[in-house]
Amino acid sequence: MYLLREFEQVYRYDGSAGGSTAIRSHRKRVRGRLPAAMAGNPGNIGRAPEEKPVTAHFNRALDLGERASMQGMARALRELRGNLTWEYGYERVPRALARKYAHCEILGPRDPVQSGTLVPGFVLFAPDTTYPQHSHPEIEESYISIAGAWSENNAAV
Ligand SMILES: [Fe+2]
Repeated sequence: MYLLREFEQVYRYDGSAGGSTAIRSHRKRVRGRLPAAMAGNPGNIGRAPEEKPVTAHFNRALDLGERASMQGMARALRELRGNLTWEYGYERVPRALARKYAHCEILGPRDPVQSGTLVPGFVLFAPDTTYPQHSHPEIEESYISIAGAWSENNAAV
């Protein structure tokens, strides 16, 4: 619940007003769903914690995150680090990516806190990872950087 409140904080107050109508309305949809999910006092379905090779970098990422502007999120995440189910989320994972990437879900249909259509989670990338271009035709997805630096199509960091 503490971590979900951090998500609510980020989607309600932090950062810019959104940059575009599409981003602003996405943020509004996300924050509109969080309170209902939290108010329902959802149960923990107890997925087994699982690590992946990239989680060797997790402590370092948390250390960086706790020094940066998303420190509240990083601290809340550190409290849960032993309970996270890191997974790939793809049927076939490219070999190079299998060592450098994993994600975990905090809220979702099959995750620690059960919910319907809102799936907040975390992606962890090893240093110098290239994440292949992809799309999700049926969902909206947003990323907020907790630690480290990344660029999209070499356009910005
Ligand atoms: Fe994606």
